[in-house]
Amino acid sequence: MYLNQKQLQAKDKRERINLVNSITGIKPANLIGTQSIEGRTNLAIFSSVIHLGSSPMLLGFITRPTGEVRRDTYENIKETGVFTINHVPSDKIENAHYTSAKFDAEVSEFETCGFTEEWVDGFEAPFVKESNLKVGLKWVEEMHIQRNNTRLMIGEIKWLFAPEADAEGNLNLASSKSVGISGLDTYYKLVFEAQYPYARPEELPHF
Ligand SMILES: Cc1cc2nc3c(=O)[nH]c(=O)nc-3n(C[C@H](O)[C@H](O)[C@H](O)COP(=O)(O)O)c2cc1C
Repeated sequence: MYLNQKQLQAKDKRERINLVNSITGIKPANLIGTQSIEGRTNLAIFSSVIHLGSSPMLLGFITRPTGEVRRDTYENIKETGVFTINHVPSDKIENAHYTSAKFDAEVSEFETCGFTEEWVDGFEAPFVKESNLKVGLKWVEEMHIQRNNTRLMIGEIKWLFAPEADAEGNLNLASSKSVGISGLDTYYKLVFEAQYPYARPEELPHF
């Protein structure tokens, strides 16, 4: 396949969406849990979660254009100022996928898609009980991307629930049964491959 911008743009919309979502490689599969000011819970799958910094610990995700379409996750975060990010466990991939359906605002994807709410005292966003690696975040910043009216939502980590990390702080994503996403409909299990020391020019192996 060898395509220029014009040929890519001429492709069917669905095909273009899947193509551009596959290009970056494997993305993390996360469920974002929120609650509205009236107490309605919401859960949706997001593949755009990224790490933004370690002091303070910041994570972000991209939300699709707001305005015409109702975006419950975005609205709830603006209302309550908190959200959770929960790794999709490998035995719940199909359930997680269907949280992307446009349910009415009154419908909680926890119930319709078979997930259990888990709460931490004093924290207003629901965690996913079935998830083995999850964080609770306080929303701290929003960046509007003018080019396509998307938004980078940034949160500071307040809570972490995860299996023990190794001495270096690395979490084993295979043992937490975390999964990866390609495109918008394809999921992969993770297999541990290798771990290397911090790369220094003077310690280069002989290739
Ligand atoms: C695999 C997958 C990944 C997705 N990633 C994102 C994403 O990163 N950002 C986003 O805005 N929507 C993403 N979506 C779409 C949302 O899940 C969908 O719009 C959902 O209805 C949002 O729910 P909400 O309105 O309750 O916030 C993704 C959907 C799928 C199936």
